[in-house]
Amino acid sequence: MNNDRFIVIDRVSKEFGAHGKSAAVRVIDDVSMKIGRGEFIVFLGPSGCGKTTLMRIVGGLEAASCGQVRLDGATVTGPDRKKGMVFQSYSSFPWLDVIGNIRFGMRFRDDISAAEKERLAQYYLELVGLRGFEGYRVNRISGGMRQRLAIARTLAAGPDVLLMDEPFGALDAQNREFLQEQLVGIQKSEQKTVIFVTHDVEEAIFLADRIMLFSARPARVLQEIRVGDHIGTQRPLAVKSTQAFFALRNSILDVTRRLALQTEKIMLQGGMFPA
Ligand SMILES: Nc1ncnc2c1ncn2[C@@H]1O[C@H](COP(=O)(O)OP(=O)(O)O)[C@@H](O)[C@H]1O
Ligand SMILES: [Mg+2]
Repeated sequence: MNNDRFIVIDRVSKEFGAHGKSAAVRVIDDVSMKIGRGEFIVFLGPSGCGKTTLMRIVGGLEAASCGQVRLDGATVTGPDRKKGMVFQSYSSFPWLDVIGNIRFGMRFRDDISAAEKERLAQYYLELVGLRGFEGYRVNRISGGMRQRLAIARTLAAGPDVLLMDEPFGALDAQNREFLQEQLVGIQKSEQKTVIFVTHDVEEAIFLADRIMLFSARPARVLQEIRVGDHIGTQRPLAVKSTQAFFALRNSILDVTRRLALQTEKIMLQGGMFPA
């Protein structure tokens, strides 16, 4: 087993087929990367570039048109318990209470005893700051709390890999910051391998060991940024107000601004804007 190649994205391309009057669209163009066990990778790129599609291919929810993804040496052919996914809009089990939702996430685990499951349920409840709300129905807690619950439930299922697609996108600034900090802590203490999608540059820098910066559609890896080389590997919230953080943010924003212009040009050429 090679820990440097825990996840391998091997020359993946994706086209969505022609339907009606629209021609086939290439969304991902020959993307390759290696992700180490325990690494925190952020996919950063303009809206519509293909980030979600690539994430779905890694998760086994979507098939690549070309190439393949390997997880721990095995080709990904579908979703399974090794891959835990958290999306922007949280789908909960509204007939269950908070702790019931976390327990539900563990229903297929046969690697641990019932007592250990209960200990873990309490552990993750605490970790995401939901102690005191265990008996609340999901429809009685806030959006931020639901998102925390989604993370707790996904972690409790014991995945090797966490795939998170803009999971904090719908949250207010305070909740977002709280969860970013929690996630960094969880990832470091549990040594989870994480792929996290965002279009928010500051969120990307704060969370990532490595940022993969994607081009406008079709997604290609434009740049790979080893964030630790710029701001260090420790991530207290205060790192967000350091000179090094601002400098890195500005240099990435420079690139993404140019990307946005490029995207606009592609849309104009494609006749996507009315004349
Ligand atoms: N199932 C699908 N069928 C056709 N086109 C799709 C499908 N899913 C996504 N697309 C298109 O692929 C492109 C990339 O989408 P997506 O991966 O969601 O981008 P991102 O997550 O970076 O915003 C978009 O132009 C989108 O319209
Ligand atoms: Mg997306």
